[in-house]
Amino acid sequence: MRKVKIGIIGAGGICTVHLPPLKERSEEVELVAAADVNPAAKALVDKYEIPQFFSDYRQLLPLVDAVLINVPTHLHARMAIDALKADKHVFLEKPMTRTLDEAKEVAAAAAQSKGRLQIGFVRRFDDEWEGFRQAILAGELGRPVTWRHVATSCGPQIRWFTEDLQGGGPFLDGAIHNYDFGMYTFGPVQWVFAHLRTINPQYTAFDTGTATVHFESGDELMVAWTWGLPPGSVGGGCFDFLGPRGTLLPRADLPADAIKAQFTIHHGKESRTVESPRRALEIGYKRQMNEFVDVALGKCQPRAGVREGMESMRVALAILQSGKTGNKVHLSEIR
Ligand SMILES: NC(=O)c1ccc[n+]([C@@H]2O[C@H](COP(=O)([O-])OP(=O)(O)OC[C@H]3O[C@@H](n4cnc5c(N)ncnc54)[C@H](O)[C@@H]3O)[C@@H](O)[C@H]2O)c1
Repeated sequence: MRKVKIGIIGAGGICTVHLPPLKERSEEVELVAAADVNPAAKALVDKYEIPQFFSDYRQLLPLVDAVLINVPTHLHARMAIDALKADKHVFLEKPMTRTLDEAKEVAAAAAQSKGRLQIGFVRRFDDEWEGFRQAILAGELGRPVTWRHVATSCGPQIRWFTEDLQGGGPFLDGAIHNYDFGMYTFGPVQWVFAHLRTINPQYTAFDTGTATVHFESGDELMVAWTWGLPPGSVGGGCFDFLGPRGTLLPRADLPADAIKAQFTIHHGKESRTVESPRRALEIGYKRQMNEFVDVALGKCQPRAGVREGMESMRVALAILQSGKTGNKVHLSEIR
């Protein structure tokens, strides 16, 4: 069987998660080359026995059938367009791009390409989040549902993540998983409203605030995050779903050696426990890469592609716009 030849563009943090599952499929995958502007990235490339290393990603394109793009977000568009124009299959980490115009250019290149585009929405492969979704869709909480996610931390300690024109901060980079999963569960977004600010004076992106995402279905997502704490700070959080029939609460107090993760659904005084695999996110990353290999082998379509990438960008950019203007932003305004 002919192997799919894969090239890696950007061999930083997230690549340590993507490479092991690719290596596990060595009968179908050949890791041919990697490109990174940082010579220190070669250590990871050597660890996974990738034979060629370039500083310029364009040198890698003629050698491969498919690429993973794992670089800072503001660099996604140029690389994705070049790869798609060369008819390569592309796994593009989320967010699709930094701006909507860039996302449109990537979408146009994908429409003309023989290559397929997959966006890194790993939560669609996470069985724990899928369990939440199934319970909601089965009507266990009633509708409308309010999903609340409060997360307090110092965020990733790499500067591009909190530069406004590069990573765009947590309301673009991090919470985009929630926007995508929210649409996957509840359907299209009608409007957003956000109060955002920057509490770490070194950052140019909004690093702190609260955003409400209102879906056409009437369901809502509330994201209250900060990445603005000093490094090493103790953070906190809250993650739950509530509706007219009850609540869904993930169990955070399980012992480290518990075999299964659990969440409970409460209806008044009644409650029911649902088990899901421990380390569901870790398994999700592996399943996501397996899907990309299958996409590159022509066996399936990506479950998160151009449409999902674009729609989640529109929500994220509406939230950043609302944070700047103080106004509610209807998704119909983000075109
Ligand atoms: N799905 C997830 O849960 C998840 C988690 C973390 C990061 N990400 C996404 O993955 C992407 C990368 O994030 P990361 O955490 O690996 O960042 P990182 O900063 O750790 O790694 C980025 C790598 O890209 C390299 N790079 C920069 N400019 C380059 C260029 N012009 N050509 C080639 N290489 C270049 C850097 O040297 C670095 O090695 C981002 O889009 C991020 O949002 C997704």
